[in-house]
Amino acid sequence: MMDIKSSMAQIKVHDKMFGPFLSDQDIQQQVRKIAEAINSDYAGLRPMFIAILNGSFMFASDLFKYLTIDAEICFIKLASYKGTTSSGQVITAIGLDVDIIGKDIIILEDIVDTGKTLNEFLPKLLHHQPASMKIAALLHKPEAVKFPIRIDYLGFSIPNKFVVGYGLDYDGLGRNLKEIYQLV
Ligand code: IMP
Ligand code: MG
Repeated sequence: MMDIKSSMAQIKVHDKMFGPFLSDQDIQQQVRKIAEAINSDYAGLRPMFIAILNGSFMFASDLFKYLTIDAEICFIKLASYKGTTSSGQVITAIGLDVDIIGKDIIILEDIVDTGKTLNEFLPKLLHHQPASMKIAALLHKPEAVKFPIRIDYLGFSIPNKFVVGYGLDYDGLGRNLKEIYQLV
């Protein structure tokens, strides 16, 4: 159950309490900054954004509205399954139906936590020979990193605490919040 009393008071998602962390305004300001940096870095180019579902849908949507350059976007889902390699898990992209050869790719992620997901996925994308590949993430938890990832455009560095809202969920709920809340 999600119980929202006011737009920035403590909220309950399932069994846990979350406190206000980043306001709608904080988030929009950073998303706009990232878009402005991309507008300038990619002037005259036509980047292809690859947004990783589910969590990045709001970030991708808002960022895209602030872009003034020509840009394309596609949405993919990453699924991990038990592979036959020694490392066990294998990550595949569902929905990557566009040709990325020779394109300037910008990956959109809601949050980079341990870095495991991108660490496994990026080499696979590079295999398709894009002209360039950069990463834009709204949130990053530096203390949680196990697989270092270079984030080219970052919204916020945050403490190693679980967060919900603005696309991020706790067990399926909380994605619809305009703000980001932190576990208390
Ligand atoms: P990583 O592979 O450990 O970097 O995990 C990245 C994914 O875990 C993100 O794309 C999120 O879907 C999820 N995740 C990590 N931290 C949080 C959090 O605090 N709240 C909600 N989802 C999270
Ligand atoms: Mg995600």
